[in-house]
Amino acid sequence: MANSKDLFTRAKKIIPSGINSPVRYYDPYPFFVKKAKGGTMWDVDGNHYLDYCNAYGALLLGHRRKEIIADVTKQMDKGTLYCAPTEIEVSLSESISGNFPSMKKIRLVNTGSEATMTAIRLARGFTKKKKIIKFEGCYHGAHDYVLVEAGSGAAHIGMSVSEGSLDEVSQNTLVVQYNNSQELQSLLEKENDIAAVIVEPVLANMGLVLPEKNFLNDLRKMTAEKNIVLIFDEVVTGFRMSPGGAQKYFSITPDITTLGKALGNGFPIAAVGGKSEIMDMLSPEGKVYQASTYAGNPISVSAGLSSVKTMNKLKTKLYPKLEKNCAKLVSAIHDLASDMKIPHQINSISSMFQIFFTDESVVNYSSAKKADMIKFKKLFEALLKNGVFIAPSQFETVFLSYAHSKDDITETITAYEKALRAVKQ
Ligand SMILES: Cc1ncc(COP(=O)(O)O)c(C=O)c1O
Repeated sequence: MANSKDLFTRAKKIIPSGINSPVRYYDPYPFFVKKAKGGTMWDVDGNHYLDYCNAYGALLLGHRRKEIIADVTKQMDKGTLYCAPTEIEVSLSESISGNFPSMKKIRLVNTGSEATMTAIRLARGFTKKKKIIKFEGCYHGAHDYVLVEAGSGAAHIGMSVSEGSLDEVSQNTLVVQYNNSQELQSLLEKENDIAAVIVEPVLANMGLVLPEKNFLNDLRKMTAEKNIVLIFDEVVTGFRMSPGGAQKYFSITPDITTLGKALGNGFPIAAVGGKSEIMDMLSPEGKVYQASTYAGNPISVSAGLSSVKTMNKLKTKLYPKLEKNCAKLVSAIHDLASDMKIPHQINSISSMFQIFFTDESVVNYSSAKKADMIKFKKLFEALLKNGVFIAPSQFETVFLSYAHSKDDITETITAYEKALRAVKQ
């Protein structure tokens, strides 16, 4: 079998930059995957890694969770795509709404980007207003409405607005600092053409940044007062932070919610849902258009239904285990870095964390950018050498999965110890 180096050389000739999504690249070339199971991935070079990238948070239950594979396999015998309705679409939407009561009506789509694009178009159609507000460093997908001061891969390469985006579109996306309710308040006093405020309730796309005490409550209050649609982008936090996502965790009810990632545990499915009067704006009964050949396809829907069933069935074990393992990792890494006198911050919540090499608390994009990126790169490289794969960027989050065992956590702490020594050098 070809090795990663040769495959990357081949890939570069036919795939721009050799990868199909920017964050997958790192120097000098990424490992190519042979297979994955549970909490582990194997590469074509004979190495294996404990996987804490977890498909950027999608694999809450780990790779190839048995119930999901069984249900998808059963569905494959019955057909892969009909483009006509199925009962499982209805069942999945009912299940999602059961977990997320604010999602009174739901459309199933394929990706988080499609979900946020639809959410914003709905907000504009519903309010008949034009502009939207997003927060610096939040990432809501790779479309023009939201690709302004975005986190994730765009932050990693320092791109504020993508070339090829229309100024006319990005000018209608106003940007406010995360955790800065005051700045939002001032903007709302000046602007009266705001259709929506979209936010990651926990920001997982510039490392991990937590909402400060009153931030999300302030957003809810301010948007409600001005008839602005509040969109919680729960593509990362949905099902990960609790069975009802961040909105349940923080007890805040948004108008529209977007879900993705853990909803399908490795299969491409996402959802947009919210108040009936907003969702009923969708075509054909309403005048806001949304469509896709693959929306609600039976393969992804069977994966979604199986995921939600499994997550709900396991919930009394799932969330406590994830939180316990995450807290254990975070406290061990913090102690190690402190003993080595490495200035650092670790932000963490539920099953997510990230380390920043800085003295300053990381509460927004500008404080995240002050962290030492060279040290982070060293950490990433040394972790990889020691059998632990995290996303190759400071502007991403470390995600735990249910498949990580006690021994995996111990092994991970040892790998972080070695990696921190490499950072220290
Ligand atoms: C919070 C958030 N919203 C939306 C998206 C876009 O989802 P997708 O990559 O499935 O289009 C992402 C992707 O990382 C995300 O993290």
